[in-house]
Amino acid sequence: MANKPKKLFSHQTLETNVGLLIFFSILVISIAGLVQIVPLFFQHSTTQAVEGVRPYEALQLVGRDVYIREGCVGCHSQQIRMLQSEVQRYGPYSVAGEFVYDRPFLWGSKRTGPDLARVGERYSDDWHRVHLRNPRDVVPESNMPAYPWLQHNSVEGTDIRERMLTLRKLGVPYSDEEIEQAPEQLVGKTEEDAIVAYLQGLGVAGRDAAAKIMNGE
Ligand code: HEC
Repeated sequence: MANKPKKLFSHQTLETNVGLLIFFSILVISIAGLVQIVPLFFQHSTTQAVEGVRPYEALQLVGRDVYIREGCVGCHSQQIRMLQSEVQRYGPYSVAGEFVYDRPFLWGSKRTGPDLARVGERYSDDWHRVHLRNPRDVVPESNMPAYPWLQHNSVEGTDIRERMLTLRKLGVPYSDEEIEQAPEQLVGKTEEDAIVAYLQGLGVAGRDAAAKIMNGE
């Protein structure tokens, strides 16, 4: 570069100095990121639950923890994108207001198996039990692992009250009564009962509201 201009701060200075280039790239990306992200903290469509969506019941909450522990999210996403093919296969696309009580989100990024965002009520409880114990019994070509131990693990005595109190601190509106009565909901239940309760609730409550948003109503 023989003819470098002598300007103190030309674009060429930036492009030929790795340190400066990295610094300014990060600066620009950070500002652009903030402009996109910060408004979402204040927008109702992302901070308020859509009509019908309620915090998870105690048994579902435990089921959700089992879902996380067993790594289901590694093969299943929970987000329907705004694509015709996805909407036709799974139902109304996911909207932010359906996930306000999900801490952490389980949107996932891998679909070895189908998306589960609206799997609730698609099958019977019994179908799920058979499928979890051995997927091949209902879907012969399935390569999903079997989870036969869930039916033997009790969820009684789980620290459910503490979990709900923690979620309440984060903004999930559980009442004192709900927290008080939570352990009763777990009496005699297994991890399989819990995960089935969780799966059967997925996408059901928010379905109508999401459909309305999708159709611009
Ligand atoms: C190794 C990847 C893998 C893991 C891990 C996995 N799955 Fe699956 N899952 C699949 C595949 C593939 C299918 C499609 C075939 C079938 O129905 O079994 C599937 C199907 C399903 C279905 C039926 C969805 C539908 O719309 O038909 C449900 C429900 C399900 N999985 C739940 C779970 C749960 C709950 C867990 C964790 C306990 C889990 N999966 C873990 C791969 C996986």
